[in-house]
Amino acid sequence: MSHSWSPSSWRSCAIKQQPKYPDAAALQSVEDQLKVFPPLVFAGEARDLKSQLAEVAEGRAFLLQGGDCAESFAEFNSNNIRDTFKVMLQMAVVLTFGASCPVVKVGRMAGQFAKPRSADTETINGVELPSYRGDIVNSIGFDAVSRTPDPQRLLQACNQSAATLNLLRAFSKGGMADLHQVHRWNLDFIHNRALSERYQSLADRIDETLGFMAACGMTADNTKAIRETTLYTSHEALLLNYEQAFTRRDSLSGDWYDCSAHMLWVGDRTRQLDSAHVEFLSGVHNPVGVKVGPSISEDELLQLIARLNPHNEAGRLNLIVRMGADNIGELFPPLLRAVQREGAKVVWSSDPMHGNTVKAGNGYKTRPFDRILQEVRGFFDVHQAEGSYAGGLHFEMTGQNVTECIGGSGSITEDSLGDRYHTHCDPRLNADQALELAFLIAETLKDCRSQ
Ligand code: PEP
Ligand code: CO
Repeated sequence: MSHSWSPSSWRSCAIKQQPKYPDAAALQSVEDQLKVFPPLVFAGEARDLKSQLAEVAEGRAFLLQGGDCAESFAEFNSNNIRDTFKVMLQMAVVLTFGASCPVVKVGRMAGQFAKPRSADTETINGVELPSYRGDIVNSIGFDAVSRTPDPQRLLQACNQSAATLNLLRAFSKGGMADLHQVHRWNLDFIHNRALSERYQSLADRIDETLGFMAACGMTADNTKAIRETTLYTSHEALLLNYEQAFTRRDSLSGDWYDCSAHMLWVGDRTRQLDSAHVEFLSGVHNPVGVKVGPSISEDELLQLIARLNPHNEAGRLNLIVRMGADNIGELFPPLLRAVQREGAKVVWSSDPMHGNTVKAGNGYKTRPFDRILQEVRGFFDVHQAEGSYAGGLHFEMTGQNVTECIGGSGSITEDSLGDRYHTHCDPRLNADQALELAFLIAETLKDCRSQ
């Protein structure tokens, strides 16, 4: 951390991927309002997550980080939040039970709105307009009014995040996450019979185990871990004026925390060493993530680690590798070795989504499920070969029955992509595909941990 770090020191660095607001005074007025809003999370919670991630870094737990590519105002309702939460619980229980491994759950939720784009503008039929940057910035409709960045959207995103987090906290502590409910987490529309039966039989075994534990005296009444869970929140810290407004000094430690989420990450497009985004994240004490894509060099990665985790604290830094199925075997090992040589304590997680996006013949952006699995397998293989620990999975999914990624045992084809393609940004796994992925990872994780 540089000596002159402050919540606003990023403002003197080069910055990419920012909207151009037409009215600076209107933006300032919104930032002033956000600054006095109550924090969405507390510093103590971010510290709890850091200590749980330290367990992941040490090979004693697994990180499951998932949710929307981009949350939207249109899809904001309690059923969507509930169903995403249920899929996270299902995936976590499959891993916890299947691989006998504690799972740290982190949602891409309650703040995952802003999107980096490949171009500043989009041109359709000769009309050029600013690119859509997520509902927190502008609207997806292709007309000048929709695409003009509107600071009022920062307030709406913040309110939606608060309401989402409120419901997630209620679900986590209010009974829904009780392990006795494990059968009820299955979503009605899970179409795939084999997958549904596999889940039901796992749930039966959990019921049986709970019966045994109750007979030994451990019940939901006397054991919190049976009746409650914690789902932490995270998003890409892309809109730094929003993040700055939520950066508060913790009264206990005196340290700065970005209280818009428990964990923040810097994206693959904004992770340059001298960028505003790296400057901002270097000074907040939350756990932070860095997307590690194909263009990074060993030297750059080591410098980023030194900058973001100068005290080599386990649990502070999550390296989210997103190379693409074809690249992982070649590009990842030298990076992993460099980090090992340095003795840097990091969580390694795999994002098998962002390096595997393709355009289908009919124009839909999609991700083949096979490629996603191939990248995850490659990630585990490299760790195994290098004697390192594959600590987590970072993925985009929804609890809704969408048709956005092709393949999986439900067999979504290119032709069916148009049936229920609802994403505001990247294609997400649906509940079937997410569960299928969890079962496959549970097997691999179990093998790795038994060796
Ligand atoms: C994302 O996670 O939605 C994203 C844009 O990822 P990346 O920065 O890895 O491209
Ligand atoms: Co995405």
